Amino acid sequence: MENGQLEHLYYGKSIKYLDHYDRFIERSYRPVSVGEFTGDLIHSLESIKQEFPSSGSGDFREPAVEILQEDGSHVMEFRYSSFEVLAGKPYIPNLPATFCKDSQDAQTLRITLTDDLTGATAILTYTIFNNLPVIARSVSITNLGEDPIRVNRLMSASLDLPDSEFEIIQLSGAWGRERHLSRRPIRPGIQAIGSTRGISSHVHNPFLLLCRPGTQEHWGEAYAVNLVYSGNFLALAEVDAYSITRLQAGVHPDKFCWTLNPGECFYSPEAILVYSDRGFNGVSQAYHSLYNKHLIRGNWAELERPVLMNNWEGTYFDFTEQQILEIARQASELGIELMVLDDGWFGRRNDDTSSLGDWFVNPDKLPNGISYLAEQINRLGMKFGLWFEPEMVSPDSHIHRDHPEWVVGAPGRTRKQGRHQYVLDFSQPEVVNYLFDLMDEVLSSANIEYVKWDMNRCISEAYSSGLGSDRQGEFFHRYIMGVYALYDKLIAKHPKILFESCASGGGRFDPGMLYYAPQTWTSDNSEAIERLKIQYGTSMAYPLSTMGAHVSSIPNHQIGRTAPLQTRGHVAFFGVLGYELNPLQLTDSDRKIIKEQIQTYKRYRRLISKGTFYRLQSPFEGNEIAWMTVDDNADQALVGWYQVLSRPNEPYWRLRLTALCPEEIYYVEELNSYYSGSELMNVGLLLTPHPSDHQDFNIIEKWDFASRMFTLIKKSLK
Ligand code: DGJ
Repeated sequence: MENGQLEHLYYGKSIKYLDHYDRFIERSYRPVSVGEFTGDLIHSLESIKQEFPSSGSGDFREPAVEILQEDGSHVMEFRYSSFEVLAGKPYIPNLPATFCKDSQDAQTLRITLTDDLTGATAILTYTIFNNLPVIARSVSITNLGEDPIRVNRLMSASLDLPDSEFEIIQLSGAWGRERHLSRRPIRPGIQAIGSTRGISSHVHNPFLLLCRPGTQEHWGEAYAVNLVYSGNFLALAEVDAYSITRLQAGVHPDKFCWTLNPGECFYSPEAILVYSDRGFNGVSQAYHSLYNKHLIRGNWAELERPVLMNNWEGTYFDFTEQQILEIARQASELGIELMVLDDGWFGRRNDDTSSLGDWFVNPDKLPNGISYLAEQINRLGMKFGLWFEPEMVSPDSHIHRDHPEWVVGAPGRTRKQGRHQYVLDFSQPEVVNYLFDLMDEVLSSANIEYVKWDMNRCISEAYSSGLGSDRQGEFFHRYIMGVYALYDKLIAKHPKILFESCASGGGRFDPGMLYYAPQTWTSDNSEAIERLKIQYGTSMAYPLSTMGAHVSSIPNHQIGRTAPLQTRGHVAFFGVLGYELNPLQLTDSDRKIIKEQIQTYKRYRRLISKGTFYRLQSPFEGNEIAWMTVDDNADQALVGWYQVLSRPNEPYWRLRLTALCPEEIYYVEELNSYYSGSELMNVGLLLTPHPSDHQDFNIIEKWDFASRMFTLIKKSLK
């Protein structure tokens, strides 16, 4: 714009651009608005599309930035100063972010804006990756003036779309039902989700999607944003009086205030924008590819993830060394590759009221220590993994007794407990260093190849004794940066460990965590039918390679349902497979089924984690659910089909597949039959409840919670 305001022109399907940018600019006389120039009735920030709207200068919508100055003014005027285009992608200091190893894989645009009065500079960063419909955005503010400034709000991305013909989709829920899809029409005003709990949360995921009405999995236009951040966040869509839709995501401004002294800089987390004109699957596939290639780091980004046995639902706190070794022995016979010892191995922890922070082995339970246990498990040919909850402290623990000042809490206020525990103040570097030493000692003492990092309460009475009264607005962000710093230190020292993050199940399933921990425990709800919704919703943004998915015992511990073992396996296959039960209680027939499940999973796990995932039928819309994953050349595919309730005298169902080569012939292993790709995609597999002579036709079992899996192999490969 003429006065240096950075204006948004277009974002959407790629167009051939003929240099007539003025055609993208809309201006009109708008009564009662504030003009940009003296006597001006047309240029009003209130009605134009902007890239970095500041507060206080005539745009009355949600600002991207609000900065409080020494004199109490919050009016800012960021104006265009310069731009540069770089090969590759710069790092964001101390924050998780997407990366590219080869500078040829991405290009970055950096636009510098300055506010002349304060000397504040904003750098807006936009990275595009080859062959991905993605823009990674972030912002930094540097104080080049002479007085301190306070950043009260800084959105990582602010995007003004030219109309409001949208529906909004969010991933919302609660413990045990995380990331359910919720869809509604967009309305004038603000519709927002967020978290002020100190974690990204079970309640809302830092993901928001706008789509054209009627958009479905395979077609339609959608814009999505996902914040690479694990703390308090805000994501919103605001429809203004002229039907412009503003989409924003960033650190939640509630209780946020970051002081920048002269010369200091604040970096926002990164927001990943995706555009798709191929429906929701297009959105998800862009996120999956980006995260698999440009977010998840280390050896485990490429390596096949081990099938694990976790003892939590099998024993809870009540185990002995002998029992764990017996579980491991049986697990190894089933083909399981990693034995994870969950909560309860340390201090005097026999229930959840004590010992968090006392990261020393409990000799009553493990008389020969962790290294002996790990050795014995390694002898079985398995890896060994261990549970920690580093950010927490029990009232009855040495840290709490020795360092009460390390515990989060506001002066003069009761510190409330969650799950009988308090939160350690990770905004204090000495706390992070102390925890590093404790954990490092354990991790160096034995061959530990996997760590489950748990976090089981939200943060209340947020206050740090390590920050001055004028700096408490920095607490939440510093806390999560402390978490990231501990991850970084542990990864640097123990680069081969596979981390799985967890926060009472899926309370911190976000891209920020995935930068450190390649997989996340998707939900404490391990019930297969419930998991259909949870995994379906989670897959909107997150690849199957990131979703811990376990087969657990029946009746299910969370909701009491009794789903067949086959179905429990078929659901957990579409994630990182694990078992969370006591194998000593399995029948011989269960053992046989599990052995086969694990063999099948191993055969297809690369396809599952690296293939392209398509959602076919939604658990939020019907009784039959389906999804599939296909490899790069459509040589192989794996299809999961599930029926929630069995119903009498059903219609005929056809399961139409996608992304196959229409002219090629596929062998469907389970049906021992050949189909053309075009038949599978256009006619589909006939699923009828009625017995018939044709074996292809009788593939619905007559019971609740039934499932089928189909493996497709291109004939030329057979
Ligand atoms: C919550 C986790 O989500 C569970 O998987 C388990 O690790 C427990 N915590 C242990 O306390």
